[in-house]
Order: sequence, then structure tokens, then C-alpha cells
Amino acid sequence: MKIVKSIREWKNAKPEKTVGFVPTMGALHRGHLSLVEEARNNNSTVVVSIFVNPTQFNDKNDFHSYPNTWEKDISMLKNAGVDYVFSPEYKELYSDEYRYQISEKKMASVLCGESRPGHFDGVLTVVMKLLNIIKPQFAYFGKKDYQQYMLIRDMVATFFIETQIVGCDIIRETDGLAMSSRNLLLSEPQRKTAPLLYKILQQTSNVNEIKKQLAVVGFKVDYVEEFWQRRFAAAFLGKVRLIDNVPLGETYDSCS
Ligand code: PAF
Repeated sequence: MKIVKSIREWKNAKPEKTVGFVPTMGALHRGHLSLVEEARNNNSTVVVSIFVNPTQFNDKNDFHSYPNTWEKDISMLKNAGVDYVFSPEYKELYSDEYRYQISEKKMASVLCGESRPGHFDGVLTVVMKLLNIIKPQFAYFGKKDYQQYMLIRDMVATFFIETQIVGCDIIRETDGLAMSSRNLLLSEPQRKTAPLLYKILQQTSNVNEIKKQLAVVGFKVDYVEEFWQRRFAAAFLGKVRLIDNVPLGETYDSCS
């Protein structure tokens, strides 16, 4: 596995087609590994990026406390058969100092877009840059960040980018908690409460009832809303913001 730290280095690499790409911010878990596995099964070359993208954090403290587990990440990726890790410097990726940005004006104005102003501008901008650098035939995203997945899928279609976006199912702990890098920040009692987010979200009660139940067990609710035949929630345990979503009625294939 080769660690590539600059765009020039990547340009000198000779990846075999097809290239499957998994963008990440590190602090990897089994959810990421399931994306890597999907990429490994369907491509000759697998590239994973690790870049904690500051422009998508609307809260500076959240950015500074984002977990960094570089050594562990690298050994996980080696074991998973990854060919390249792309880990660029901020200065190179944002040589324009973020003067140019990608914004979406409709879907990005609800849910996480509403409660985290500017978040999706940062996500779309960095993903556009990464896709333009890596030029993969396929890129893999988890459906825990369902809104992000849909925004990226539509951005790629809108700007005629020649990458197929593959959305993969949420991977959960045995107690139902959706895997997330932020789970590392939960205290022991918070970790015990966290699976209730998924459990309560699946109930047939209406969204107001669900908000109440989440509050009773200790969550500070950001939102519970229904869009696109899904129910979405974001809620805090202390300072840790967790998100999750469940389909309403329909079932989904693991990757589509
Ligand atoms: O989902 C993430 O980890 C990030 O939003 C992404 C897609 C790597 C962009 O920084």
C-alpha cells in the first residue's frame, strides 16, 4: 500500500483501471471497511483518502476534537488490501483559500444543512476536488450520511463528472448504534444511551412523539424529520452529535 501525500505524486502513480475510491476523514471503523470491501470486490485499484476537511465543520471545536487515529487507520487499510492512501495537505487542496465553493440550493437547505450552515458547501467542494484529482470510475459513500450521499450523487450528474456514485447500507454495532467516527468521543454512559437513537427512530409513532422519547432518555434533539421516504434524526449526547436514518416502509439493497 502506497501513501500519497501530494497531487503530483498521485499523477505519477499508474493505477490499473478500474479505480474505486473511498473518501474518508480517518478515524476508520467497520462502516468504512465495508465501503473499502465493496470497492475491493469491484475494482482493480482501491484508493482511500484521509483528509479532515476543515471547510465542512461549522463548529471549530468540533473540527479540533475530531478523532485522529492515523496509525490504526493505516494498518486497517493495509489489511483490507487498499492500494493507495491519498492524504493531501490543506494548502495544496485549498490553494484558492476556499474562494471557490460548490453550493446546492434546495436539498442542502434542510436537515443537517439547516442546522450546520455551510456544512454541505464544504463537503461538496472537497468531494469535487477529490474526484477531479483521483478520477475514479466508482466512489463509495455510506447511507448513514444519506443527505450527503444524495447531494454528491446529484452533483456528479449535474457537473458531468465521470464517476459512478455507489451508496452503501449503514453498518451498525450489535446493539444497533450506527457506526461513526464520533462514537469514539462518547463517554461510557453516553455509549450505553446511544443505541436508543436507532431504537426510538424505528417506532411507528409520529415525529413529535419520537422527539419527546429521545429527550426523556437523555438526548438533546436537533431534528427528527421525514424526507425522501426516510425518517432522519440528529441528536446530541453531551457535545457529541449523532445522526441516523431509517427507511419508511421500503427496503434497500446493500449497495446501489
Ligand atoms: O463522510 C465523510 O467522511 C466526509 O464528509 C467526506 C465525504 C470524506 C468529505 O470530507
